[in-house]
Amino acid sequence: MNAPFRINGKTIETKRLILRPFKPSDLDDFYEYASVDGVGEMAGWHHHETIDKSREILNVFIGEDKVFAIVLKENNKVIGSLGVEKYGMEEALTEFDGYKGREIGYVLSKDYWGQGLMPEAVKAVIDYLFNELDLDFLTCGFYNFNHQSGRVQEKCGFKPYRSLEMETRMGTKEQGTLNILINPAKDVHFEFSHPETLIYKDN
Ligand SMILES: CC(C)(COP(=O)(O)OP(=O)(O)OC[C@H]1O[C@@H](n2cnc3c(N)ncnc32)[C@H](O)[C@@H]1OP(=O)(O)O)[C@@H](O)C(=O)NCCC(=O)NCCS
Repeated sequence: MNAPFRINGKTIETKRLILRPFKPSDLDDFYEYASVDGVGEMAGWHHHETIDKSREILNVFIGEDKVFAIVLKENNKVIGSLGVEKYGMEEALTEFDGYKGREIGYVLSKDYWGQGLMPEAVKAVIDYLFNELDLDFLTCGFYNFNHQSGRVQEKCGFKPYRSLEMETRMGTKEQGTLNILINPAKDVHFEFSHPETLIYKDN
């Protein structure tokens, strides 16, 4: 099942980054990276054509309180986001009944790709969710064309779980891979449903 989650003022510090809740004054930084063609598209959403679009989404982030702003310490700029989202198909994925999980999603400004920043952020959030909030598992997905996101998940220990057709927020469908990471400190034994899309083997 989906565990309840709110950032609730939490900040997480890594070597190069601070993860914290979004605030209204992040608008210019957010628009700067979200308006670049080819960033959001890799995560299934159209880049922002106007700052009003960024304001609208920023207000959702602030209201829902489940997406961390990723701040680069070096320049104190918001350079991306990391969401602790609900995983989908909760009713169908009966193997998760009785276990607590969430789904991770993320985007990084194109100016900062290739420096290992997102794996650094994701690993810190995994540590928080597993070791402080006691979650049992996490999922994380990527469209199969998005090798760079697949690599982030691999580097953070996620394993292929299901092969699925996934809808984008642009009204298209893409073949994707859903990955899973089980909290190594927990005694988790899933009885998997829907073998037709299942990849995961080691249980
Ligand atoms: C996916 C993403 C978050 C990766 O973040 P990152 O901090 O650059 O991650 P890494 O530095 O670990 O690089 C990951 C892979 O990207 C590729 N990569 C590296 N530099 C790159 C560059 N300048 N341009 C494109 N890809 C690059 C490499 O394959 C790298 O894997 P490697 O470490 O095995 O070489 C970032 O590319 C991004 O925001 N993409 C657009 C949004 C998105 O895809 N979100 C995820 C949706 S599922």
